[in-house]
Amino acid sequence: MEFSTKALSPERITAGCIAVGVFESRRLAPAAAALDRAARGHLRDFVKRGDMDGRAGAVRLLYRVPHLRCERVLLVGLGRESEFGAKQYRDAVRTAVTAVADTGARDACLCLPELHVAGRDLEWKMRQAAIVAAEALYRFEETKSKKSPARKLRSMAFAVPARGAAADRGLAQGRAIAAGMALARDLGNLPSNICTPTYLAAEARRLARQWRLGVEVLESRDMQRLGMGALLAVAKGSRQPPKFIVLRYNGAGRGARPVVLVGKGITFDTGGISLKPAAEMDEMKYDMCGAASVLGTLRAAAEMKLAVNVVGLVPATENMPGGAATKPGDVVTTMSGQTVEILNTDAEGRLILCDALTYAERFKPQAVIDVATLTGACVIALGHVATGLFANRDTLAEELAESGADAWDRAWRLPLWDDYQEQIKSPFADIANIGGRPAGSVTAACFLSRFADKYDWAHLDIAGTAWVSGKNKGATGRPVPLLATFLLGRSGK
Ligand code: BES
Ligand code: MN
Ligand code: ZN
Repeated sequence: MEFSTKALSPERITAGCIAVGVFESRRLAPAAAALDRAARGHLRDFVKRGDMDGRAGAVRLLYRVPHLRCERVLLVGLGRESEFGAKQYRDAVRTAVTAVADTGARDACLCLPELHVAGRDLEWKMRQAAIVAAEALYRFEETKSKKSPARKLRSMAFAVPARGAAADRGLAQGRAIAAGMALARDLGNLPSNICTPTYLAAEARRLARQWRLGVEVLESRDMQRLGMGALLAVAKGSRQPPKFIVLRYNGAGRGARPVVLVGKGITFDTGGISLKPAAEMDEMKYDMCGAASVLGTLRAAAEMKLAVNVVGLVPATENMPGGAATKPGDVVTTMSGQTVEILNTDAEGRLILCDALTYAERFKPQAVIDVATLTGACVIALGHVATGLFANRDTLAEELAESGADAWDRAWRLPLWDDYQEQIKSPFADIANIGGRPAGSVTAACFLSRFADKYDWAHLDIAGTAWVSGKNKGATGRPVPLLATFLLGRSGK
């Protein structure tokens, strides 16, 4: 979909469909009022007759309204004006886009960025409009033999009060973030027989070519040479060779310390010898969504030409119960030199991440953020709304929480207190890879913290937010918006 801005007064806009807001109850938003004046009261009449009360989620499509240039007018319910905020704005855009795409219009203009959203400027409204619109129009059909017919709707404009750099900048950022999310969603939605560690590495190389990123892929023998015993212990049960992807985006000077993003890339998690139950195991193809979000964020950063250096690290492997697989009680030596007793082979995410966190040290990072579908316990704690956030620095935690709030891709901090470290003691190794049922997300983060003491570090547990289950099953592209917004901040833009 092509997105653009339009700085014309609404009655002068030409499009197959123009979408304007109506507040509850029956108050026309400015663009709707402007159309109504041009149409000599037609819209007000329609609303007055009780055909549109402006409730949030309601839409009405009008055809060939006299004196208007657009063939279709879509009235979009906005709910109560006093309650209109970021969430309501995003919902209105989603509702409008979905309804417009269902008409025969080839191009459309949404007059929603004119609406006042408390605490948010035009740049934000444009960024969000593009993100939400692209999100709503996303389809995944790569693995269907019959594709649904191409959409008639080819381009979508957003009407802005006046032409200006802020609107264009917001839209361009929104486009870039949306494309990063779509990439993350595509990779997540691909089945594990296609999206293998080798496929992820090829995808990273393709991205590097397209966006002029640096890329390097470490093979098993490189991991051996580096002493990545924990990552290799997970890979042992699989016939798919593991890959360790290093992607570099250099938007700042050579000397500028990078932000390192680390993404969990388990392309399928059977649990290994500690085998998972059969129910919903298919969803473990999403266990590489952290990796996908890192690739998506690098793409977004490159498209936005952010003045920041970013390194993406993706340890990628399957977690399988093959004949050579790691067994409960096995002790391995990590790249850091610390030993780990693997009591449960299903706690594999932390094992591949710990070696990546040690590897991250060589970049002298300004910050390291790992992203992982790490624990079922995080879904119990925060559900599917907030990503779990942990950090060894309060300022970094706050910066990430604020980025998430701004992007409406929210994260909520959980504690990393020393008291929890007790739970991952082992009689046979320096650390155990599980800490029992209580506070499962916290003890997983505590495990990671043992490998992240040389820099500012944060951990995002996206187990509940990376995909949705049920009849609308699919990857969400989170936390690409959060991470892209964080990098926007770090680039000083
Ligand atoms: N990938 C899973 C976490 C997961 C489970 C994410 C369900 C989303 C939905 C992870 O590798 C895992 O299996 N974690 C275990 C840890 C346990 C063995 C300590 C879990 O959460 O049960
Ligand atoms: Mn697991
Ligand atoms: Zn896993």
